[in-house]
Amino acid sequence: METWDAITSRRNVRQFASRQIPEEMLQQILEAGRRAPSSRNWQPWDFVVVTDREQLRELSKVWRGGAHVADSAATVALVVDDSDDQKVRERQQYDLGQASMGMMIAAADGGVGSGHSAVADQALARQVLGLPEGKRVALLIDLGYPADRPLKPIRNPGRRPFAEVVHRDRW
Ligand SMILES: Cc1cc2nc3c(=O)[nH]c(=O)nc-3n(C[C@H](O)[C@H](O)[C@H](O)COP(=O)(O)O)c2cc1C
Repeated sequence: METWDAITSRRNVRQFASRQIPEEMLQQILEAGRRAPSSRNWQPWDFVVVTDREQLRELSKVWRGGAHVADSAATVALVVDDSDDQKVRERQQYDLGQASMGMMIAAADGGVGSGHSAVADQALARQVLGLPEGKRVALLIDLGYPADRPLKPIRNPGRRPFAEVVHRDRW
């Protein structure tokens, strides 16, 4: 897929086919996250990728809306330091957003669907993933081939109009 096609094809996918993601593709998706830019190149993240079905089922329980994690081919947990400092948390969030988008575009490039899933029960997430002290899971990205239809460029993505969003020179 061309870059533009990957950008315009990405959509929130919650229903996954049973097909596995080839290891090379999975590594490419993770590599896209690893290469993401971050504030002063601090790379605040670790990625825990889960493919074991039973573990995915357990992981799906960390948030009431996370059922699709159980059916994903793989789910990536984005792990950061559990800081109370609001500035640190804000920087983490911005940089994790960049890493997330990089992984999602790389996934779309290979026809792999992706979705975000929040984490409410940190204790359970820590236990399922075996995290060391002082870490938290900021977000889960579930991955898999879409069950409904293959990814392809979306003509109308349901966004605010371009002319409303984009301001030239001044507001
Ligand atoms: C940080 C973040 C959290 C999200 N959390 C949820 C969620 O809790 N439930 C949900 O249905 N979608 C969630 N989404 C998906 C968005 O609703 C979705 O990306 C948006 O509607 C645009 O649709 P698209 O991804 O198909 O383009 C989340 C997206 C982001 C970026």
